[in-house]
Amino acid sequence: MAQYVAAIDQGTTSTRCMIFSHDGRVVAVDQKEHEQIFPRAGWVEHDPDEVWRNTRAVAAGALAKADLVIADIAVVGITNQRETAVVWEKATGKPVYNAIVWQDTRTDRIVDELGALGGGQERYRTKTGLPLATYFSGPKIRWILDNVDGARARAENGELLFGNMDTWVLWNMTGGPEGGVHATDPTNASRTMLMDLDTLQWDEEIAREMGVPLAMLPEIRSSSEVYGNVRERGALAGVPIAGILGDQQAATFGQACLSPGEAKNTYGTGNFVLLNTGTEKVMSENGLLTTVCYKIGSNDTVYALEGSIAVTGSLVQWIRDNLGMITTAAEIEAQARSVEDNGGCYFVPAFSGLFAPYWRSDARGAIVGLTRFVNKGHLARAVLEATAFQSREVIDAMNADSGVPLTALKVDGGMVANELLMQFQADLLGVPVIRPVVAETTALGAAYAAGLAVGFWSGEDDIRTNWAKDKQWEPTMADDQRDKLYKDWKKAVTKTFDWVE
Ligand code: G3P
Repeated sequence: MAQYVAAIDQGTTSTRCMIFSHDGRVVAVDQKEHEQIFPRAGWVEHDPDEVWRNTRAVAAGALAKADLVIADIAVVGITNQRETAVVWEKATGKPVYNAIVWQDTRTDRIVDELGALGGGQERYRTKTGLPLATYFSGPKIRWILDNVDGARARAENGELLFGNMDTWVLWNMTGGPEGGVHATDPTNASRTMLMDLDTLQWDEEIAREMGVPLAMLPEIRSSSEVYGNVRERGALAGVPIAGILGDQQAATFGQACLSPGEAKNTYGTGNFVLLNTGTEKVMSENGLLTTVCYKIGSNDTVYALEGSIAVTGSLVQWIRDNLGMITTAAEIEAQARSVEDNGGCYFVPAFSGLFAPYWRSDARGAIVGLTRFVNKGHLARAVLEATAFQSREVIDAMNADSGVPLTALKVDGGMVANELLMQFQADLLGVPVIRPVVAETTALGAAYAAGLAVGFWSGEDDIRTNWAKDKQWEPTMADDQRDKLYKDWKKAVTKTFDWVE
């Protein structure tokens, strides 16, 4: 009997394949980074063919590292960077344009025009749970169809397909032009701004206004069911694919936030706090998103409130790659520890405008509070603190929306290895921060969704049993110090507004 589950995690900066055992432990990981393409200020693209090549390579790599054969793998799950949009030819699998990444702000004019039809930023909130913003896929599809020669007519003719990265990977893994399955799950569909949160179907009216032909949209299936089998020869050939969750929802699932009131914060390229609100769809009054958390087979849909922060880990990459201030991301902790505090310096990384709770596409990044006293260490500290401050802002919004203040925060993702940041996060929130043994909860969540569909795991209790705490940070900062830091941060944020006319 196959004893392992594989998960493909198609993320913003890399694609990974992870293999898990029945107790939810990592058996093997293989990972490949892909190029970040910045054709102009505010534009971010990925090459979908490179991503697909990397997907195949890491699937083979992970099996080889664990010394496993295909027969050892029971099922595959897919998780992915959400909102990133690909449009390709059905007959050949050739993308008509690069993938437009979730961080890309080129659709600001489209978004303004849609808002001007009435309702402004709130135009589609009731149906989709989202504010009109450049973040979501719908306007990105519109941009491709408006700007690639002949694309709109071909899409209307049924010759082009759209997918987020989950769909792109699934379609290719299941055969591509030869019978590839064109499907997605409600967590990904809920980020297109084209899906009705109640019916879990594409909304014809919004699609018409957005200029997106329904013919190009994938079928919305559940997050946990068999979609098809891996068709290609090589790694994983023949294995069923049975789970799809957007990466933040996957992390929520992998963190066993399975009951209303449970929340997690993932520290990746950006940060994303998700609060499980159960089968109730809570509409935010404080700048958060209402989104699908997961839908397991025919069970009721579970919803979440989400605080999305565009730039956190990618700020560390930026000071590494664009400023050369550090040579590896891990070095930032030592630099930050070389000083006592931030020296009065605040770094607001509004590189893609500001997401939750502000939703301001006119904002751009700023470093404020500079004096001659400020050195590299202070700047490193400001970089790390920016992640914690932004997390505090969305958690405040969540507490206000839910009316039930969070009593502890589960964390995961790459940056949770940074002990200085974790302590600062606990200090700034005034509640404990808890890291699980398996911090790779994104891939784990996708593995669980897939494994549940085929009976590899018998139910959500297995997920709860497998979750184990690694470390907990307690808040130690005095209230007045915390309040002063947070007040200064809020002031710094206001300095980023109105940069783009
Ligand atoms: O919404 C964007 C999010 O899904 C990206 O996550 O981990 O690739 O930064 P990550």
